[in-house]
Amino acid sequence: MSENTKNPRDVTIAKAKGRPMLTWVGKKPLARITAYPAQTIERFELPSPASGRGGGGEGNLWSDWPKDMPQGGLLYHGDNKDVLARLLADGFRGKVKLIYIDPPFDSGAEYVRQVHLRGIKGTVKIDGEDYALGEQIQYNDIWANDSYLQFMYERLLIAKELLAENGSFVLHCDSSRSHHLRCLLDEVFGADKQFKNEIIWFYRRWPTNSKAFQSMHDNLLWYTKNNDNTHVFNKLYEAASDRTLSDYGGKRLTTLTSDDGTQIKRETEEESLGVPMRDVWEIRREHTRSHEHTDYPTQKPLELVERILTALSNQDDLILDCFVGSGTTAVAAQKLGRRWIGCDINKGAIQTTAKRLQGVMQEQAAALNARQGELVATENAPPKPCQLSFSTWRVNDYDLQIQHNEAVELACQHLGVTRTRTDPYFDGTQGGRLVKIVPFNHPLTPLDMEALRAELKTRPNEERDVMLVSLGIEQSARKWMEDYNRNRPINKLHLVELRTDRKYGGIIKHEPMSADIAISREADKLLVEIRDVVSPTIIQRLNLQEGVFRAQIADWRAVVDCVLIDTQNNGEVFNIALSDVPERKQDLVNGRYELPSPPSGSTVAVKIIDMLGEEFLMTYQVG
Ligand SMILES: C[S@@+](CC[C@H](N)C(=O)[O-])C[C@H]1O[C@@H](n2cnc3c(N)ncnc32)[C@H](O)[C@@H]1O
Repeated sequence: MSENTKNPRDVTIAKAKGRPMLTWVGKKPLARITAYPAQTIERFELPSPASGRGGGGEGNLWSDWPKDMPQGGLLYHGDNKDVLARLLADGFRGKVKLIYIDPPFDSGAEYVRQVHLRGIKGTVKIDGEDYALGEQIQYNDIWANDSYLQFMYERLLIAKELLAENGSFVLHCDSSRSHHLRCLLDEVFGADKQFKNEIIWFYRRWPTNSKAFQSMHDNLLWYTKNNDNTHVFNKLYEAASDRTLSDYGGKRLTTLTSDDGTQIKRETEEESLGVPMRDVWEIRREHTRSHEHTDYPTQKPLELVERILTALSNQDDLILDCFVGSGTTAVAAQKLGRRWIGCDINKGAIQTTAKRLQGVMQEQAAALNARQGELVATENAPPKPCQLSFSTWRVNDYDLQIQHNEAVELACQHLGVTRTRTDPYFDGTQGGRLVKIVPFNHPLTPLDMEALRAELKTRPNEERDVMLVSLGIEQSARKWMEDYNRNRPINKLHLVELRTDRKYGGIIKHEPMSADIAISREADKLLVEIRDVVSPTIIQRLNLQEGVFRAQIADWRAVVDCVLIDTQNNGEVFNIALSDVPERKQDLVNGRYELPSPPSGSTVAVKIIDMLGEEFLMTYQVG
């Protein structure tokens, strides 16, 4: 992890200079913003030596890349205000060629993602009838007018800082907000030739019974960072209509005279390429039966996003989508040989995106291997991927906007902690344990642990265990805690990890998952067998739904979305050596895995992600 990513620091944001200016209640400029730390969660990397152009060696594809950042796709879980600030602090200012965003539309809808347990209906039963897990609110799209405008204004201001001087910005919206957003964009980017197009995406859908014309389009507002015409624009063509062709007076072939006087016939551009593409695009909406469909309610068609990327960026360029949803932009970038950064506040979105990207990269790796030995690239070969790896990060929303004292009060109330105001270090007690609330402006780090150890040393007679309450934890701190707790009869550390979640009044207690996993080594093979998985969050959700009946899940595999194994875990980043991600909902994970055994002393880590996106991690030392 880069040193940078560990320290909060301020980054500057340029003032919007465009005119006219829209105003709203509570409008605030944004001159500085704090970049909070990011933690690496996991890394996916295909071992193939032919892996894209990410393995180094080929030209200077990554020479413009911040040197402390891993070369490959970057996927961030967190509020994009924090993530964009983090990217600025990490050296991405001016590096992004194209930003495409498809933010919440302020449509008054609450988007929901259907979450189902895995398995064929009927084989996996929950006491009651159905196995549907109910709906997981994907994100809340209800905004007070003014806060929506402030929300978008801030994101546009920060995102512009990341754009290259010849970069483009495309904002996908609909008619409910396009008029306001266009004003915001004029203000942030300037209205002097920076506005390039309003592209109408026209799609068909079933008629509704409204007393107005049926809305069948979205609006894509395209701006360039500067007005000097240096931006990338790859001309696209569409088939000319018969009318256009006949308007050429039937001269379907143009006669040209060559230098030596012979006459040659050539097709007109209209006939060979079609006419230059217009700003109204008809593209089918993402179809529930399509191969690409992810159950993400606002998933956009890959064809639409690919078209934007093809026109407004070149191969190898860096593409950013900080409202990435199901990951369509990252998938399009990956397929078209571009580099990419994605971000979403919703864990389900990150999970969906990661899953899609793993699939695309695996297909690309297989295709690359199959083509090895072909000396000449064939014309129809798809673009070579820039990378066959990506890392997932979390940037927590530490900016709680409340003082530490208030946060302690809130957390204590929430967890039933009795405050002890006379103790200068510990915040209270609960059930015979001392309680320490780690300041919420950073995740729990080994430094906090060292401070705690030093404190306990000053209290030789203290025998009580300690409950640590934190907002997020660095992987290295988790390892520190495991080592510390080993063979310790007193003063054991217990962790309560809180997460910020506005839906639950700011702070919720995290109920961890548990699993029974057997890992053994036989000769040169490593055997991993998952025997049971319990997800309290899912059970809680089902119990809420089932009312008086207690939910029972007959097969643990129904609650598991995927299993990931890292055979050489370094305690910091999860490097995926095996991923078991059944593609279809009715399929279950395998549960038994055989891998080549890593050398003695290596740490094997098994990660299980449930159908709500919660994670369980177990580590095992190879003997
Ligand atoms: C309309 S969806 C994007 C869909 C995406 N284009 C696709 O094809 O799947 C908007 C996304 O923005 C995310 N979002 C909303 N507020 C956010 C925030 N403050 N930071 C990051 N993501 C946010 C939502 O979780 C949601 O996934």
